[in-house]
Amino acid sequence: MKVGGTHYQTIWLQPDDPTIVQIIDQRRLPHEFVVLDLRTVAEVAHAIQAMIVRGAGLIGVTAAYGMYIAVLTAPKTTRRAFWDDVEAAGAQLKATRPTAVNLAWAVDRQLEALQQVEPLDEMVARARETALRIAAEDAENCRNIGTHGLQLIEALAERKPGETINILTHCNAGWLAFVDYGSATAPIYAAHDRGLPVHVWVDETRPRNQGARLTAWELGQHGVPHTVIADNVGGHLMQHGLVDLCIVGSDRTTVTGDVANKIGTYLKALAAHDNGVPFYVALPSSSFDWDMRDGLREIPIEQRGADEVKYMDGQTASGAIEVVRLTPESSPVANFGFDVTPARLVTGLITERGVVAADEDAILNLYPEKRRLASR
Ligand code: MRU
Repeated sequence: MKVGGTHYQTIWLQPDDPTIVQIIDQRRLPHEFVVLDLRTVAEVAHAIQAMIVRGAGLIGVTAAYGMYIAVLTAPKTTRRAFWDDVEAAGAQLKATRPTAVNLAWAVDRQLEALQQVEPLDEMVARARETALRIAAEDAENCRNIGTHGLQLIEALAERKPGETINILTHCNAGWLAFVDYGSATAPIYAAHDRGLPVHVWVDETRPRNQGARLTAWELGQHGVPHTVIADNVGGHLMQHGLVDLCIVGSDRTTVTGDVANKIGTYLKALAAHDNGVPFYVALPSSSFDWDMRDGLREIPIEQRGADEVKYMDGQTASGAIEVVRLTPESSPVANFGFDVTPARLVTGLITERGVVAADEDAILNLYPEKRRLASR
């Protein structure tokens, strides 16, 4: 997508030195656009853990590039030495964040691709090719999510010709959370580019404010009309007919259609259900967990540090970035990163293959090759 008129993706290899992975430092947005270099597995792991990069798709793609760096730096003396290093890197990357399933999926896909290669001196080329392929598929899947989700927005537009379609989204399931286009935002960008009058209600998404900081920024860069709202406003808007459609992303969706997404998503789904507002989840197939059936019991929910709730940073009138404390110094804090929205509250899933009910049969009909996996 565009930044200041220039096309960017969220991650790429440095053109002059393809042993370096480059990312956008998402901690600095919307105030500064800074590109960082990653040269070691430790740097990649830190970038994911510290949320320099974040969002399910991008976490997975970054881990895929991390495995490429692991292969670059692993000893090529013996197979044993090589695999010890590469498997340790995979374990290190997988341990960085627990909820988004894309992370383990991407690491495992790299490991499987490498296992098919015999000569050690061909490993680097295979790891690089696999990382590039995972990144390209991520972008293509999001583009297709946009095409399928557009049909939902077009159907709404037909019911209120000429009027603005109001879409509520939570957190950032935008292009910054993937390689390009985003999941929840892809249908919105597609509709906007078609000339449909869309307006987005952007939940601020405490405590890290991915909505207020990132979704608002990327929609603004693309010229999509939007309004940032405090996290508790959505229910009120829905009661007053000011939301036509909710579209959120997902960090992990079970084969039965239970959706883990950023904390607060469940409350929006409840409000949508109570007010008859369609509630869609947009996700690529890399965000399905084919082994899990009970989202509430099985999906690991990340708990992060207290400081994310206690402190907030922002830009002062002089342009400086400063950190302020919001809570009494001694108050204990809990910081649950995600919640699970049960399938019964989800109107449908927007995937790269089409829109489908949040229901095991429907999901497996769309992904028949996963039937064996899901029934294990
Ligand atoms: O903690 P984050 O920022 O990595 O959380 C992920 C998210 O941005 C959201 O949960 C998003 O809706 C799903 S990721 C496409």
